[in-house]
Amino acid sequence: MPDQESTRRTVVIGNWKMHKTGAEGVALATEIVARLRPGRAEVAVAPPFTALAPVADAIRGSSVALAAQDVFHEREGAFTGAVSAPMLAAAGCSIVLVGHSERRHVFGDGDEDIGRKALAVLDAGMRPVVCVGETLEQRDAGGAENVVRSQVGAVVAGLSETQRTRLTVAYEPVWAIGTGRTATPDTAEAMHRVIRSSLATIAGPGTAERTPILYGGSVKGDNAGAILAGANVDGLLVGGASLRADSFLTICHAAG
Ligand code: 13P
Repeated sequence: MPDQESTRRTVVIGNWKMHKTGAEGVALATEIVARLRPGRAEVAVAPPFTALAPVADAIRGSSVALAAQDVFHEREGAFTGAVSAPMLAAAGCSIVLVGHSERRHVFGDGDEDIGRKALAVLDAGMRPVVCVGETLEQRDAGGAENVVRSQVGAVVAGLSETQRTRLTVAYEPVWAIGTGRTATPDTAEAMHRVIRSSLATIAGPGTAERTPILYGGSVKGDNAGAILAGANVDGLLVGGASLRADSFLTICHAAG
């Protein structure tokens, strides 16, 4: 039997959130491409929509992949302000975040929306990264595990066996995002185990073992290695520290 960890990809994604114009994004992406050492981790950047096309040009021919931060589930139509999965694929994206906590809490995305978005991403030939995580209130009330189990279940139950092979999950505790308060490596590993066990319950052991589970929430160069040491931590989703090449590259290189 192969080593279970080695069968999963390692992924590091820089989520730029609402930062960087096209020109600023090109400058950052160009520096990342120039200085990224080849390794086992797949590295992606997720610029805002307006920077996708210029950043796609800047990373063309490199190992760095392009990700989008969100999507609307319809293919096209009268949906002012929205961007569809086929549009993102045409812009060069291979990965799309769905259900990021800022989408859930600032923009009101619910589990049903997130499930539809994941399906749209898969239909367009890309890979969804389904983000889950509890608030501090939910954690303090002892509900963290149930929250992530239900968030994972709401999306994964609606996917076919084939679609599940292209799934990535990101655990991002809301209390750790942008706060400087990182989950300890033990807490992250414990929650990743919960997510993997809920994947096994919903989708079977094959999906559970194959699905990369990334950690996000105040990841920095000096804590990335310790978090990645968890057997069920397969990569990182980085916010603030992905906005500078130095700090992002330190994290990418910590991932191997
Ligand atoms: P920070 O790394 O800034 O805490 O953001 C985490 C995040 O939300 C990544 O998607």
